[in-house]
Amino acid sequence: MAFLEVADVRKGYGEGDAHIEVIKGVSTSLEKGDFASLLGPSGSGKSTFLNIVGGLEPCDGGRVVVDGVDITGLSDREVGEYRRAELGFVFQFYNLIPDLTVCENIEVCAHLSEDPLPLDDLLRSLGLWDQRRKFPRQMSGGQQQRCAIGRALVKNPKLLLCDEPTGALDYQTSLEILALMEEVNREYGCTVVVVTHNDAIARMSNRIMRLHDGMLVEDSVNEERVPALSLEW
Ligand SMILES: Nc1ncnc2c1ncn2[C@@H]1O[C@H](COP(=O)(O)OP(=O)(O)OP(=O)(O)O)[C@@H](O)[C@H]1O
Ligand SMILES: [Mg+2]
Repeated sequence: MAFLEVADVRKGYGEGDAHIEVIKGVSTSLEKGDFASLLGPSGSGKSTFLNIVGGLEPCDGGRVVVDGVDITGLSDREVGEYRRAELGFVFQFYNLIPDLTVCENIEVCAHLSEDPLPLDDLLRSLGLWDQRRKFPRQMSGGQQQRCAIGRALVKNPKLLLCDEPTGALDYQTSLEILALMEEVNREYGCTVVVVTHNDAIARMSNRIMRLHDGMLVEDSVNEERVPALSLEW
């Protein structure tokens, strides 16, 4: 069985006449260590799909099996446990805790894991060692996103889900963040799914998925992976 199995997942919003189908029967699977890009136009269902896989939203039908566990069949408490133990989630707008320093922001997440990464090593590989005592408001967007990635990674998650992690960053900073994600995928072997609008980012992935109007219209293997730092757009 693959590390991530998604079978005929469906999701809609609204009641009665106002009901709209947002995810219309999506099936796919990822192997452990895959780096997947999820592309598609605005409103095509990318975030909804990622949130379902991450246990942030329930689906209306279908199954999501992560490392042998059907997360669609879990109780609320068990979903919370799944998210704490297995999952790293990175959002477009960082979601840091404003009153905690960089180091503390990451440290609180380390406590959620039974097998966290060493904090000092992580701060260094994130390029945040010199910033570790700063508060989020004292840092640039790229530094804040590094910190957010640190929060996701310190748990040593099996699955790293990122929703437009470079959406708020400039070109050069985006490349650095992507290179960091590439390194993490290689070093720690976590399975990564990155939602992006940017076709160029897909070129660093070994799997490319594309949603259109709630349906998976592309689900392919990319044989010619390009290192993040060689991407151009
Ligand atoms: N909580 C909600 N209630 C009602 N409709 C929703 C809700 N969340 C999302 N939608 C609708 O579902 C569709 C898919 O939204 P989603 O956020 O998944 O798109 P997306 O592909 O991530 O878009 P973007 O690239 O703009 O982030 C949209 O039409 C959106 O309006
Ligand atoms: Mg979105």
